[in-house]
This record gives sequence, C-alpha cells and structure tokens, in this order.
Amino acid sequence: MHVGIIMDGNGRWAIKRGLPRLMGHKRGANRVKDIVKASTELGVTTLTLYAFSTENWKRAAHEVEGLMKLFRGYLQNNFIDLNEKNIKVNFLGDPTPLAADLREQMKKLEELTKDNTLITLNIAINYGGRDDLVRAARKIVDKVQDGSLTVGDITEQTISDHLDTANQADPDLIIRTAGELRMSNFMTWQSAYSELAFVDKSWPEFTPRIYAEVIADYRRRTRQFGAVIPKSAEIGTKV
Ligand code: IPE
Ligand code: IPE
Ligand code: MG
Repeated sequence: MHVGIIMDGNGRWAIKRGLPRLMGHKRGANRVKDIVKASTELGVTTLTLYAFSTENWKRAAHEVEGLMKLFRGYLQNNFIDLNEKNIKVNFLGDPTPLAADLREQMKKLEELTKDNTLITLNIAINYGGRDDLVRAARKIVDKVQDGSLTVGDITEQTISDHLDTANQADPDLIIRTAGELRMSNFMTWQSAYSELAFVDKSWPEFTPRIYAEVIADYRRRTRQFGAVIPKSAEIGTKV
C-alpha cells in the first residue's frame, strides 16, 4: 500500500501559538519519524511525504532558507538511522536548484539505502506533479529522437515509467492535513485513482493515532476503478 501525505499547516500551527512560522516547520519535521514508524506498523509499503513544492520557492527568502536548513538537519540526524532501520529512501522532484551539499547527501542516502526492504520512503522536495510530467516528456522525446522508442510505442505505462515514481505503484491513499481541499500539484498523474483523505489537524498535530484512524477509514472503502463491483449481499439480486 502506497500512502502520500501533503504535510500542510505548519505555518498556521505556529501563528496560532504566537510563534514564528519556522517553529511550525521545526515541529513538523519532528513528526516525520513517528509517522514513518507508524506506517510500517499499518502495512504501508511506500510512504511519500510532500516536503517542498515547485511553488514553495515563492515564499519569503528566510522561510525558504529555514526549510532548507531543516531539511539539511533532517538528513544529517537521520542518515545512519534510516539505513539501520532498513528504510529505502528515494527523493522525488528536480534536485537541480538545491544546494550542492544537499544534493550530494540525497544521492548518498539513496545509494546507501537502495537495497533496504522494510518500507520505501519517498521525500518530495522541489516536487511538482506538472514538473514531473514535463521532465518525463523530455526523457521520452529524447528516446524518440535517438530511435530507442517510436511515437506509436508511447502508452500510459511509458509515461508512468519516466516519472520520478517509475517502478512504484500509484498512491492508494493521499492524506492532506490542515483542512485545505486541494492537491497543490502533488502527483498529478499518479493520483488518477487515489483515495483522498482530508484531515482538519495540522501536520504538527498529526499523530500516529489519527493516522491509524485515517487508514482504518480507507480500508472500509470500496475502490471500483471505473468498474461496478457488486457488494457480496447484492450478487444475484434482480433489478
Ligand atoms: C506545510 O506547511 C509545509 C510546507 C509547505 C513546506 P505550510 O507552511 O504550508 O503551513 P500553512 O499552510 O501556511 O499553515
Ligand atoms: C503544499 O502545501 C505543499 C507541501 C505540503 C509541500 P502549500 O501550503 O504549499 O499549498 P497551497 O499553497 O496552500 O496550495
Ligand atoms: Mg500550506
């Protein structure tokens, strides 16, 4: 099961308490460990955390810098631990505009953890669903131009195979915290049939207990993928 989380509401959490927005981000970063652990206990095999969108560069420079600093700290503090816990870490998004030291750490962590099997943790940083599609289109066109692919060969699977999530299942469930009812450019292609859950609590308040409730609710849903799946009680009944 693949779960994606749009970790929203850090800023509001802080402002409500008379604190600077960055304190909210700090509290938010501290939530990650618990939620990754809970994921392994809830049967989640891939967890994607939306940490920084392609649009988040529009924020005040000091907030962007603060977020990058927190990200750097998270990598430093968890580098060894993530590997020891058998977690496979993947980064989604275009790393090009990130600082060189960050990019290097990200690459090293991916390399170090690539054979780990407990859970895949995708961290989406400078990620945008549209940007993911643009970069996939470029890779596909390159292949058409060098002759390794023909236009007629392009299928939905081809697109999926060239996204940052190549070789991964689409998210089964996308959770957004802090009450906003939108996707904000998260996994535009991959979310075609994802179940959605919107939670009123902000990310710093999102506990493993709330998470477990959201997963339990998801498990009660019927996913039809466009087909009609008769409930067992209705099978054989006349219209
Ligand atoms: C989510 O919290 C974290 C990032 C987008 C990096 P926000 O910073 O968006 O918090 P709100 O939505 O302003 O409360
Ligand atoms: C979405 O949250 C991005 C992340 C959680 C990383 P935003 O707070 O940036 O989204 P909008 O601006 O409210 O749509
Ligand atoms: Mg927000």
